[in-house]
Amino acid sequence: MNSIKKLINEVHNQTKDPICAYIYDLEGIRSHVSNMLSTLPRQTHLFYAIKANPDKRIIEVLLPLVKGFEVASIGELNKVREVSKTVPVLFGGPGKKDYELESAMSENVSYLHAESLLELKKLIVLAKKSKKHIHVLLRINLRTNSLPKTNISMGGRPSQFGMDEELIGEALSILREKENTHVHFKGFHFHSLSNNLKAELHVEMIHHYIQKVERWKHQYGLDVKVINAGGGFGVSYNETTGFDWNLFTSLLSNSEKVQSLGDTELFFEPGRFVVADHGYYAAEVVDIKMSVGQCFAVIRGGTHHNRLPASWGHNHPFSVMHLERWSYPFQRPEVKDSNVTIVGELCTPKDRLHENVMVKSLRVGDVILFKKSGAYCWTISHHDFLGHPHPEFYYITEGDCHGKSNDSKTKYYS
Ligand SMILES: Cc1ncc(COP(=O)(O)O)c(C=O)c1O
Repeated sequence: MNSIKKLINEVHNQTKDPICAYIYDLEGIRSHVSNMLSTLPRQTHLFYAIKANPDKRIIEVLLPLVKGFEVASIGELNKVREVSKTVPVLFGGPGKKDYELESAMSENVSYLHAESLLELKKLIVLAKKSKKHIHVLLRINLRTNSLPKTNISMGGRPSQFGMDEELIGEALSILREKENTHVHFKGFHFHSLSNNLKAELHVEMIHHYIQKVERWKHQYGLDVKVINAGGGFGVSYNETTGFDWNLFTSLLSNSEKVQSLGDTELFFEPGRFVVADHGYYAAEVVDIKMSVGQCFAVIRGGTHHNRLPASWGHNHPFSVMHLERWSYPFQRPEVKDSNVTIVGELCTPKDRLHENVMVKSLRVGDVILFKKSGAYCWTISHHDFLGHPHPEFYYITEGDCHGKSNDSKTKYYS
C-alpha cells in the first residue's frame, strides 16, 4: 500500500490535472501466484483466464509461473501469442466463428473447449481441410442442483455455455465418425460459476465433476487425459471472508477422489482470484455537492472505467487518500463525519461506485482509492461513453530499475 501511495503522490506532483489511474501491483501478483502454486497438489495445473485482466504486463509476469492461459476470442489469443508463441493455451467461449477455429489450429492451441455439437462438426471439417490436428475438451453443463450458489452461475441451469450432459453420447459419436481424422477427444471442461467464496463447496463441486467423469469413462469407454474444473474462486468485496486458498488446496491434496485420478490431469483456469486484489483504481474528487439532503462526491472517472460496482450492484471498497493541493482563492470544499455517495463524471444516475458511506473527512482534491480493482473492472467497462479521457496505467514492481527497461509507467519500489 505504501508504494501505491508513493506513486499517487509522485503522479500528483507531476500534473495539475485530477488523478485518474489504474495501478497494477505486478510484484503483488507474482508473489500471490507463487504462493498459490506452492500448495497445489501434484497433478493439478494453473492457467490464467485473461478475460479478468488481459493487460500485457500481467501476462508477462504470469508467463514463467502458470502452466498457460485461457482465452475466449481471437483478440485474447493474439494477446497471449504476442507475449509467447509457445505457451499452452486453452481456447473456450460460445459461438466460435470459422476464423476462430482456424486460428486456434494455426496458433497451436493446446485444447479447444467445444461448446456445442455444431462447433464440433465444423471443427472436424476445418481441421481435415487444413490438415491440422487439434485436442478438444467437451464443455459440459451438468444437470444438477447441487452446485454452490453464487452471484454468477453458468451451469447447472439452462445456459448458452457448453453442451448439456445428455448430449455427451452424441458428441462422442460425432468424434468417432470415420470422417473425423484430425480432432481428438482429450477430456471435459466445466466452468459452472464465478466468485465462489467457500473453499469446501468448491472441493465438493470438483468431487462432483470427478464422479461424473468416472461414470462417463465407463459408460462410453473413454480415455480422459484432462479434467478442466474452470475458475470461479471468489473475492470478497465487503466484510465477508474471501476464498480460503490454503484450505482449498489442503482439502484437494487429501482428497481420495483427486488422488484416484491416476494420470488424468486436473486444470484450473481462474481469473478474478489471481489479479483482483492487486489492482487499484485511483480517482480524484472533483466536486462535492448536496442534493435533497444527500451528499455526493463526484470523481474524475466512474463506471466507464470501473463498471464492476454497477454491474454487480455492489458498493466497491475504497480508502481515501488525502492530498494537500488547493490553488483557489476560496475555501476548499470538505465534508466531515458524513454519509457520502461516490459517483462518476457520466450523465447517468447509474454511474455510482459506492452508495451512502460514512467518511471521516473528504475534500475536493483528495483521491478515492478503489481496492480490489484488478479483475473485471477496466476490461468490462464502456470506456468511450461520453468521450472522457481514459485513465493512466501504472505498474509497480520490486527492486531498482538498473538494467531493466524503464518507461514512465513502470515504477520500481523496494
Ligand atoms: C470459461 C471460463 N473460464 C474461466 C473463467 C474465469 O472465471 P473467474 O474469474 O471467476 O475465476 C471464466 C469467467 O467468466 C470463464 O467463462
